[in-house]
Amino acid sequence: MLPDYLPRLALLLLAARLPQACPVGCNCFKGELVCSSEDLVDVPRDLPENATEIIFVETPLAAIQPWAFANASRLSKVVFLDCGLRSLQAEAFAGLPALEDLEVTGSPLGGLPGEAFRNLSGLRKLTLNFNLLQVLPEELFQGLDALEALHLQGNRLQRLPAAIFQPLGALCLLNLAQNLLGQISERLLAPLAGLQTLKLSDNALATLPPRAFWGLGGLRELFLDGNALVELPEGLFSGLGALEQLWLQHNAIGHLPEAIFSPLANLTFLNLQGNRLRALPGGLFRQTPSLARLSLSGNRLENISGDAFANTPKLSVLTLSHNGLAGLPPGLFDRVPRLAKLYLAGNNLTALDGWLFRNLSELELLSLANNQLTALPTGIFDENFRLFHLGLQGNPWRCDCHLAYLLDWLREYSDHHFNLQTYCASPQYLAGQLLPALEAEQLVCPVSPGSHRARAFPEAAEDPSSIWDPEEEARAPAPCTYSSADGTVALACDREVCRWLRVRLSPRETLAGPGLTLNSTRDWVLESSCGSVRVTLSINAPGGGG
Ligand SMILES: *[C@@H]1O[C@H](CO)[C@@H](O)[C@H](O)[C@H]1NC(C)=O
Ligand SMILES: *[C@@H]1O[C@H](CO)[C@@H](O)[C@H](O)[C@H]1NC(C)=O
Ligand SMILES: *[C@@H]1O[C@H](CO)[C@@H](O)[C@H](O)[C@H]1NC(C)=O
Ligand SMILES: *[C@@H]1O[C@H](CO)[C@@H](O)[C@H](O)[C@H]1NC(C)=O
Ligand SMILES: *[C@@H]1O[C@H](CO)[C@@H](O)[C@H](O)[C@H]1NC(C)=O
Ligand SMILES: *[C@@H]1O[C@H](CO)[C@@H](O)[C@H](O)[C@H]1NC(C)=O
Ligand SMILES: *[C@@H]1O[C@H](CO)[C@@H](O)[C@H](O)[C@H]1NC(C)=O
Ligand SMILES: *[C@@H]1O[C@H](CO)[C@@H](O)[C@H](O)[C@H]1NC(C)=O
Repeated sequence: MLPDYLPRLALLLLAARLPQACPVGCNCFKGELVCSSEDLVDVPRDLPENATEIIFVETPLAAIQPWAFANASRLSKVVFLDCGLRSLQAEAFAGLPALEDLEVTGSPLGGLPGEAFRNLSGLRKLTLNFNLLQVLPEELFQGLDALEALHLQGNRLQRLPAAIFQPLGALCLLNLAQNLLGQISERLLAPLAGLQTLKLSDNALATLPPRAFWGLGGLRELFLDGNALVELPEGLFSGLGALEQLWLQHNAIGHLPEAIFSPLANLTFLNLQGNRLRALPGGLFRQTPSLARLSLSGNRLENISGDAFANTPKLSVLTLSHNGLAGLPPGLFDRVPRLAKLYLAGNNLTALDGWLFRNLSELELLSLANNQLTALPTGIFDENFRLFHLGLQGNPWRCDCHLAYLLDWLREYSDHHFNLQTYCASPQYLAGQLLPALEAEQLVCPVSPGSHRARAFPEAAEDPSSIWDPEEEARAPAPCTYSSADGTVALACDREVCRWLRVRLSPRETLAGPGLTLNSTRDWVLESSCGSVRVTLSINAPGGGG
């Protein structure tokens, strides 16, 4: 008869085996091992053979011996984070036919043997970020036919062998950001026919060969920011019809060939911030009809031609801040009806055309801060029904009758959190006063003795030196402008004839007030210095609701 403790003994033996299934210094979760022990100076010899993923975190492994993982041949992912690896031996990852994802990040790895990744024909992602790699052998990636993503960010690479990427026909993503690359050869990237994302940010590239990107017909994102590029050779982007995002900010580009962006019919995002552009060639954006976000801030632009944005109908965010723009040509924004955010802060703008924003019915944010503006034309925001965020601070506002429209507009529409630091610069008795806090009555213009018109027509004051501007005249108040107390309705009449009637029913108003419904009638009493009038408005919808 068998002792009855035998089954219990078997159980105990099994239980005793279980801890051994997980190597000392590691934690095991199903097929995943996380090893993070300061005592682990070698890859454990007792790796469970069914392990599929192993991650070493901050373990002092100085080297990996050949065939170190061969007992766990099902591993598909091997990661070393901050492990102090100084070298990888030729057969370190031998015997891992299922390996798909290999990462060594944050190790003082200075170089790699040419055979480091040999036989890893199933590898799809290779990450070698933030090591100290200076040179790579030309044959390093041989046989990596399946590789889709290669990360070499944050190393010390100064140049790359011309044929190093030859085997990587399946690569979709190549990240070479934050290295010391001073140049790339014309042949380097040509084999990467499947590439979709190329990151060359924060290197030391001063020039690019004209054909650097030829053959990359599937490229969708190109990062060239943070280099030392002074100019871009003509034809650089030829054949990149699929490109959607182009990052060129923080270089030293002083000049762009007129046709440089013409091949980029699918470009939606372009960042040219922080370069040295003094001018934009006339047709620069003529053939980029998909452009939706464009930044030109932090350049040296002093003027922009009126048709610069004539062929970018989808533009929705435009940043022109921190240039030297002294003025903006009328009509500049007429053809960008989808513009929602417009940044013009930090320029030298002294005046704006009254119709500059007339086509921008979707404008939500407009920054005019830190310019030289003293006033804005009456009616300038009349078509900008969605505008809530208007930045005005840092301008030398002249708080007189010319600012009445702006004050009125701020009261009615502006977000209260904006313009808390918008002050009057003149007249002297209002200097330093918070503009949005003024009372309408404080905004007065001096009346010249004997001139009654000067009060009603500040713009057309009888000063022979004032320049006659027919457009300004047309917008100036008529001899009698009647308006309702809330500004919703205004009527302008000459002595006998009324010339225009404005009823402003912005979406905001219908949200806030009772609005006007179909088949309704409403009365307003309008006041002016000439007296008062009554306006009755009826809306009749024919049967069926129209
Ligand atoms: C290996 O597989 C066994 C059973 O199949 C399981 O109990 C064990 O937890 C696994 N070990 C690892 C490290 O995945
Ligand atoms: C593989 O397993 C065998 C038997 O358990 C062991 O002797 C050998 O050291 C292991 N090899 C490695 C590289 O861990
Ligand atoms: C590659 O595979 C061959 C054949 O299996 C083998 O002889 C060789 O040692 C392997 N090389 C490396 C670096 O793993
Ligand atoms: C541009 O984008 C459209 C729509 O996404 C796509 O059908 C077309 O193939 C793209 N053009 C190129 C050259 O990739
Ligand atoms: C503005 O551009 C024109 C040509 O488009 C140029 O002649 C002129 O010098 C520029 N003005 C300034 C102030 O840069
Ligand atoms: C703004 O204009 C003034 C006067 O014309 C000039 O001295 C200054 O350099 C300009 N600033 C910029 C940023 O262009
Ligand atoms: C812009 O506005 C002007 C005047 O209202 C109009 O003639 C023109 O067609 C508009 N352009 C676009 C693209 O909407
Ligand atoms: C407006 O009145 C007409 C006839 O007076 C009627 O047929 C129509 O349905 C009304 N519409 C609404 C929206 O009330």
